[in-house]
Amino acid sequence: MTSKRDLKVAVLIMTVLLITGIVCYASFRSPVPENPVRLMFQNKAGEVLFTHQAHVDDYSLECIDCHHNLEDNDIYNCRECHEETGDEDMPSIADAFHAQCKGCHEEYGAGPVECNSCHNL
Ligand code: HEC
Ligand code: HEC
Ligand code: HEC
Ligand code: HEC
Repeated sequence: MTSKRDLKVAVLIMTVLLITGIVCYASFRSPVPENPVRLMFQNKAGEVLFTHQAHVDDYSLECIDCHHNLEDNDIYNCRECHEETGDEDMPSIADAFHAQCKGCHEEYGAGPVECNSCHNL
C-alpha cells in the first residue's frame, strides 16, 4: 500500500522533474535569428542605415544575393568570416560591404553609390 506521504513525495518529485524539463527545453533550444527589419552599422565614416526587410521584400532580392555563403542553409554574420583586415583571399569587412552594397547598386543602377548617401553623419 502506498501511503499518502509516499504519494506526496512522488508528486513533488514529478513536479520538480517537469519544471527541470521545461527550463532545459527553454534554455537549450537553438535560437533562430530573426530576419532583421533594419540594421544600423556604426563606423568612423558615419553610420549606415540598411533596410534589410525592404531589400528582401520591395527590391525582390534573394537571400543568397548577399548571404553568399549559404551552402549549409545557415545565415552567418558577415563578420564571422570577414575580419577587420583582409588579404587577397578574403576581403576585409569594410571591403566586403563596399563591394557588395555598392556593387549591386551600380549593377542595378539603383540605390546609393556616393559616400555620404550611405554614411549619414
Ligand atoms: C541586400 C542584401 C541582403 C539580402 C537580400 C538579405 N540579407 Fe540578411 N543580412 C544582410 C546583411 C548585410 C546583414 C548584417 C550582417 C552583419 O552584420 O554582419 C544581414 C543579417 C541577417 C540576419 C542576422 C544575422 C545575425 O546573426 O545577426 C539574418 C537572420 C538574415 N540576414 C537573414 C536573411 C534572410 C533569411 C534573407 C532572405 C529572405 C536575407 N537575410 C536577405 C544582407 C542581406
Ligand atoms: C562563412 C564565411 C563567409 C561569410 C559568413 C561571408 N563571407 Fe563573404 N567571402 C567569404 C570567402 C571565403 C570569400 C572569398 C572567396 C570567394 O570569393 O568566395 C568571400 C568573398 C566576399 C566578397 C568578394 C567578392 C566575391 O564574391 O568574390 C564579398 C563582396 C563578400 N564576400 C561579401 C560578404 C558579405 C556582405 C557578407 C555578409 C552578408 C559575407 N560576405 C559573408 C566567406 C564568407
Ligand atoms: C543585391 C543587390 C543589393 C545589395 C547587395 C544591396 N542593395 Fe541597397 N538597394 C538595392 C536596390 C535594388 C535598391 C532600390 C533602389 C530604389 O528602388 O530606389 C537599394 C536601395 C538602397 C538604399 C536606399 C533606399 C533604402 O531602402 O534605404 C540604401 C540606403 C541601401 N540600398 C543601402 C544598402 C547597404 C548599406 C547595403 C549593404 C549592406 C546594400 N544596400 C546592399 C540593391 C542592393
Ligand atoms: C552602399 C553604401 C555605402 C557607400 C556608397 C559607401 N559606404 Fe562606406 N561603409 C558602408 C558599410 C555598410 C560599412 C561597414 C560598416 C561596418 O563595418 O559595420 C562601411 C564602412 C566604411 C568605413 C569604415 C571602415 C573601417 O575600416 O572601419 C569607412 C572609412 C568608409 N566606409 C568610407 C567610405 C567612403 C570614403 C565612401 C565613398 C568613396 C563610402 N564609404 C561609400 C556603406 C557604404
